[in-house]
Amino acid sequence: MRILRQTIPAGRTGRRSIAGRAPRARAVLPRSGPAACPSRARWFTLARSPANDLTMSDTPTRHILLGVTGGIAAYKAAELTRQLVRQTATVNVVMTDAATRFLTPHTMQALSGHPVYTDMWDPRVSNGMSHIELSRDADLIVVAPASADFLAKLANGHADDLLSTLCLARDCPLLVAPAMNRQMWEHPATQRNVATLRDDGVLVLGPDSGSQACGETGMGRMTEPDALCEQILGWFEPKVLRDTNVVVTAGPTFERIDAVRGLTNLSSGRMGYAIARAARDAGANVVLVSGPTMLAPPPGVRLVPVTSAQDMLEAVERALADCHIFISVAAVADYTPLHPQDQKIKKDARVLAVELAPTPDILANVASRANPPFCVGFAAESERLDEYAEAKRKRKHLPLLAANLAQKAIGAESSEIVLFDDEGRHPLPEATKTVQARRLVQHIARLYTAGR
Ligand SMILES: Cc1cc2nc3c(=O)[nH]c(=O)nc-3n(C[C@H](O)[C@H](O)[C@H](O)COP(=O)(O)O)c2cc1C
Repeated sequence: MRILRQTIPAGRTGRRSIAGRAPRARAVLPRSGPAACPSRARWFTLARSPANDLTMSDTPTRHILLGVTGGIAAYKAAELTRQLVRQTATVNVVMTDAATRFLTPHTMQALSGHPVYTDMWDPRVSNGMSHIELSRDADLIVVAPASADFLAKLANGHADDLLSTLCLARDCPLLVAPAMNRQMWEHPATQRNVATLRDDGVLVLGPDSGSQACGETGMGRMTEPDALCEQILGWFEPKVLRDTNVVVTAGPTFERIDAVRGLTNLSSGRMGYAIARAARDAGANVVLVSGPTMLAPPPGVRLVPVTSAQDMLEAVERALADCHIFISVAAVADYTPLHPQDQKIKKDARVLAVELAPTPDILANVASRANPPFCVGFAAESERLDEYAEAKRKRKHLPLLAANLAQKAIGAESSEIVLFDDEGRHPLPEATKTVQARRLVQHIARLYTAGR
């Protein structure tokens, strides 16, 4: 039994197929490969660090052309590049002239591992047409930050520099992340331009609200790089759960003993949060009912923070209306103190006995309803994995159960999972929890769609 202080939740080889687009003959660009760019060899070493072991990922490499325009938030483009590269994307950077006043092309070259382009007349592109060639290999063009001026240019089809011309001469999707002073954002001209861009099929991410470099507060902050990176890579995922409502539980619960102590467990919440993100990326509307964790709320997911098993049950019951799929990942306490004390228990020489009562079984409660959603359980066992997992699945009448060894999975970055369903046993070899979550969501989508 662990007694901890309560923590408060903070809250084709990989090519995308663009319909009908066949690989085309290309002019030769001095791009990837250690010979073309010495810094690429170093980048490759970074990308294979243990935190991002590509052998543990089955995500194909995404080819992103990142446009950077002139604004204070240009510094965030450096972090965005770093994160995209770490998470299996190649990034080629094009900067406007104004952007180079805020951030040097050298920084972006070092972080992306590729030469940076700023000029339509760049002689490095062999056929002299950088304004067309640079977007030819891209799966997606992302402009981050996108200045008010650049949005105006895009909305009106201007092509007077390399980046605006590339955005016009493209057949891949375009995503922009606006960043500007709140008055610039609220100005009817900017709002008109953004509406035009949306009508033209451009994806607009953000901006967010908050304090701004100019000292004001309001809408206009560029979405933070980690959230942007997540949304960019999520955009590529197949939408196998489109228009589906999913409820996920995650993390540990905390059962109060007194004013400052409680019973909890070592669950980090990573697996549940990864599943919530994977379901969101698959197109689902996701509610994440989470016990106390140190993890940031996943963007685009409705987070319901809870503390105890009883709180979690009540939050799940509220979230179940219109729920199609319920995924129970939380490590819910099996027992809770029968008489929690309002004040801190003082230490004395006596042996202290804490009486425990069983907590409600949330998954069994949901699965035994008259019209249950598609229920997925998780089992963390310390031994006899197959036997205990199958028994739990049958006992709780679950169409699918994901089982792993508790001593290997709890709190870890990666996991090895075995799925049990009516067709049998499906091992998912060791991979990061993000990859396992995507595999699980695809399996769920197959079973759910087949059973509808
Ligand atoms: C210090 C400074 C900060 C600026 N920050 C922003 C900004 O955050 N967003 C924006 O839209 N424009 C900003 N501007 C204005 C743009 O840099 C200006 O409109 C420029 O022409 C944009 O060029 P580009 O769109 O070709 O990059 C800023 C200008 C200065 C001098």
